[in-house]
Amino acid sequence: MSFRLVIAFSTLLGAGAAAAQTPASTPVPAAGTATTAPAAQAALTPGDAAAGQAKTATCAACHGMDGNSPSAQYPKLAGQQASYIVSQLERFKSGKRANPIMLGFAAPLSEQDMRDIGAYFAGKTSLPGVADAKLVPVGEAYFRSGDAKDGVPACMACHGPDGRGNPGAEYPQLAGQHADYVAARLKAFRDGSAGDGARVRIMEAIAKNLSDAEIAALASYVEGLHAVDATTAAK
Ligand code: HEC
Ligand code: HEC
Repeated sequence: MSFRLVIAFSTLLGAGAAAAQTPASTPVPAAGTATTAPAAQAALTPGDAAAGQAKTATCAACHGMDGNSPSAQYPKLAGQQASYIVSQLERFKSGKRANPIMLGFAAPLSEQDMRDIGAYFAGKTSLPGVADAKLVPVGEAYFRSGDAKDGVPACMACHGPDGRGNPGAEYPQLAGQHADYVAARLKAFRDGSAGDGARVRIMEAIAKNLSDAEIAALASYVEGLHAVDATTAAK
């Protein structure tokens, strides 16, 4: 019964986010690129994974050749939703998600580069990590049901029962993501340092009701989630 409430809450938030998203891509920094005119944007083709691979040579040092980053400080991109990868690269480039390292790597990318890169990593398979068995019960309970009395909706309402995310709504994949990175992001949402934008507000409203212990449990749980057969077709 609390589950219904949770879904209603997420639908509400989702609708708000979609509405607020429409005017989002107005002014892109004009620095040298004359290609961001509306006409040019309309002419963009869908992401091309083969073209994307050639554009990810510089990314591999941190994110891994196939997007399975070897170090927990760098998020895995393998199997991530292409639409989410594009949206985050746009956010780094515009400074809405402030990160000096990623600003440097996103700034030279065109919209088409971002789409190609998104298509490339989305077609890779995320290698699952391992959850700490002690943390699974709490992590699973929050992920699947949330905690209605604390105002925490079920994560799976947006991120999917298997943590694969949702491409249409640009909800990121969480399954297999490094726990340290997930915990750091949840803390950034909680303390308001994750950046600007309506979509960030969604996660801020949720994370502010999470304790450190709940964040640790959720982060470990999602690292151990397996995206069952999700990307084998995209090989
Ligand atoms: C020197 C290391 C480094 C390199 C090289 C690098 N990144 Fe990153 N990337 C990071 C770090 C650190 C973060 C996390 C930033 C944060 O905490 O906000 C990140 C985050 C991201 C994210 C957001 C992922 C998410 O789950 O939200 C995307 C997308 C991304 N990088 C794409 C790329 C692409 C594409 C390239 C190559 C063009 C690249 N990165 C090169 C370090 C790097
Ligand atoms: C109402 C929908 C919704 C619900 C419910 C939700 N999220 Fe999210 N989540 C989002 C959106 C939207 C983003 C992307 C925000 C952005 O663009 O920065 C996101 C991003 C994230 C990220 C960052 C991923 C990355 O790769 O950097 C993490 C971690 C996360 N959510 C964890 C959770 C957890 C844990 C829960 C449950 C306690 C949860 N979310 C519930 C919508 C939701």
